[in-house]
Amino acid sequence: MAILIKSEREIELMREAGKILALTHEELKKAIKPGISTYEIDRIGEEVIRSYGCIPSFLNYNGYPASICVSVNDEVVHGIPSKTRFLEEGDIVSLDAGVIYQGYHSDSARTYGVGEISTEAADLIRVTKESFFEGLKACRAGNHINDISKAIFNYVSSRGYRAVRDLVGHGVGASLHEAPEVPNFTRMMKGPKLRPGMTLAIEPMINIGTYEVEWLSDDWTVVTADGALSAHYENTVLITEGEPEILSKAEGIEL
Ligand code: MF3
Ligand code: CO
Repeated sequence: MAILIKSEREIELMREAGKILALTHEELKKAIKPGISTYEIDRIGEEVIRSYGCIPSFLNYNGYPASICVSVNDEVVHGIPSKTRFLEEGDIVSLDAGVIYQGYHSDSARTYGVGEISTEAADLIRVTKESFFEGLKACRAGNHINDISKAIFNYVSSRGYRAVRDLVGHGVGASLHEAPEVPNFTRMMKGPKLRPGMTLAIEPMINIGTYEVEWLSDDWTVVTADGALSAHYENTVLITEGEPEILSKAEGIEL
């Protein structure tokens, strides 16, 4: 699959999608409290996305039954919202969301603590986010995909964490998942060369323990093989002639 270079018009639509996605995450962040069900989080997310006339990217994608992926503690990604799963003080929760605006997707994820969390959990969330920004520094035209992967991998590895290997970041645009893959670990290959107009969803999924993951019997929820904590942080990024541009952002809203 060829890597699609976006036109200025497509980039503008992705900026708008990304802005609405950032505003959606902001509303979700406010809702994160002990006692809320993961189902309620999904309801708020879908409502906000639709209030902007947008469509949730994930709803019905390959049969995924919700708009927001809500993954708690040892759940890495793709947790399915449930009316009977309630957040508890001390949990960490990853919220992954996608928005379609006029046919173009933006994809981003955040991990939050619920109430007071352990320093171990807080450190994991912080390093996972920081590793995205290490990867971002490598998002320069002329570099290769592996430069992004290596930056993320080296950053988390040097701090004692493990990068998940079975799931990767990806190109994003008129489809949620486009070429190329953006792994969070290094391979021998340099991978494709980065060019202005490429749009990538860069998404470190980082574990405290083993990098190995398993799928639950719902066929979606990915959990760590050892039951230890995992965090996720993701943004949609545009490669330019100069500095990369984060597309999944809105003015005044924390990344
Ligand atoms: N950010 C996730 C990904 O890139 C979202 C996909 S969830 C799905 O894989 F439900 F839509 F599959
Ligand atoms: Co993604």
